[in-house]
Amino acid sequence: MSKFNILVLHGPNLNLLGRREPDIYGHLTLANINEILEQESARLKVGLSCFQSNHEGLLVDTIHGAVDNYQGIVINAGAYTHTSVAIRDALAGVGLPVVEVHLSNIYCREEFRHHSYIAPVAVGQISGFGANSYCLGLHALVNYLEKSS
Ligand code: DQA
Repeated sequence: MSKFNILVLHGPNLNLLGRREPDIYGHLTLANINEILEQESARLKVGLSCFQSNHEGLLVDTIHGAVDNYQGIVINAGAYTHTSVAIRDALAGVGLPVVEVHLSNIYCREEFRHHSYIAPVAVGQISGFGANSYCLGLHALVNYLEKSS
């Protein structure tokens, strides 16, 4: 059994990766990214589950459900990053360590993307490295968990 189980959450529109604005988000599909994360988690010897939803409430429910089954969360909340007090409160409520990730560098884009409701309840944020943001986020979270266990 793995020492740590990590939940990776993908928010709205990330199911369109591969065909969605590839100049911004790249050519990999969400399935490609999840596969890379599976391989990386095997190398790190941690358990991993990935979940995507376009629905805020479903993401909130999934965060609530994570509390007894996972030791940490990697989240790309997509556009909900910039709007969702509910997702922020859910993350704060369960109290699991969170790493926030973004494919694009949200600070180089439109001003409305510069604010994150998630950042203040996250251990840290990784933004701008394409699909690699997820791998960096996974590594950062596992490293954080190992140091604090
Ligand atoms: C994103 C950035 C968000 O601003 C945007 O709404 C997304 C994707 C990213 O990964 O770069 O859907 O979270």
